[in-house]
Amino acid sequence: LSRGGALLSMRVIRAVGEMRQLAEEIRSAGRRLALVPTMGWFHEGHLSLMREARRRADVVVVSVFVNPIQFGPREDYDRYPRDLERDRRLAEGVGVDVLFAPSVEEMYPRGYQTFVEVAELSRPLCGQARPGHFRGVATVVLKLFNIVRPHLAIFGQKDYQQLLIVRRMVEDLNLDVEVVGMPTVREPDGLAASSRNSYLSPAERRAALSIPRALQRAQRLYQEGTREARPLLKEVRRTIEAEDLTEIEYVRLCDPQTLQEVERVDRQALLALAVWVGTTRLIDHVILGGEGPCSG
Ligand code: PAF
Repeated sequence: LSRGGALLSMRVIRAVGEMRQLAEEIRSAGRRLALVPTMGWFHEGHLSLMREARRRADVVVVSVFVNPIQFGPREDYDRYPRDLERDRRLAEGVGVDVLFAPSVEEMYPRGYQTFVEVAELSRPLCGQARPGHFRGVATVVLKLFNIVRPHLAIFGQKDYQQLLIVRRMVEDLNLDVEVVGMPTVREPDGLAASSRNSYLSPAERRAALSIPRALQRAQRLYQEGTREARPLLKEVRRTIEAEDLTEIEYVRLCDPQTLQEVERVDRQALLALAVWVGTTRLIDHVILGGEGPCSG
């Protein structure tokens, strides 16, 4: 820390103990600390979270940790893109103070056996196809909160269900962390920014554009007065299935707070989907009737 309590240049920390000690110093100096939890391979979405953290806090910590316990046995843990040097440069460019990049052994030493489960919200949508995924997410996020002890933590709304689960956990476990959700960043062609976009071949990328196209069409139908789930979902399915390389995992219309399925849009509804494009699983959503409860 400098005299003013700010960090002088970006630090990369690999050890939990060192991160805890620095967090303690930052808090004792009366500085406001923001955490942006990530799995690395930064894109514009991540950078928007970091810039928001920079605006809201004195010290910005970004964690980079590909969390093995949120991946299923046949998922992409091994091939998930990793390049800490690239991430380091990008984070430094937006004024991040600390990159916390622990090893798996640091986070889950031998004998580790404690997990957090946000029961109801973890069941539908992505939770159905990825059993154990949100248990892994909630567990690592709670661990990161305990290690970094942030005043606020910033997440992308693209992972809508994840954000809802983190908010629920914070509420249920009386955690003293302000959770901020930031709007989905889209690439110029409309695809939601995601580290997994890097898996797509050019042909798959073209096919993947049916996802934002489908959501836009549903939004237009809604704006023209359609409220029933059936025609909205049908239009989304039709648009995505028109592409050869896509396979829908789910498309659902849900209550934006409980994630329970709804038959029609009353005030607001979440239209959420997961689609396989080749071997890449992409998620996206739109809130019909407004941007919903997760902003702020
Ligand atoms: O959204 C992500 O990148 C991850 O799920 C998170 C929140 C960093 C937990 O591993």
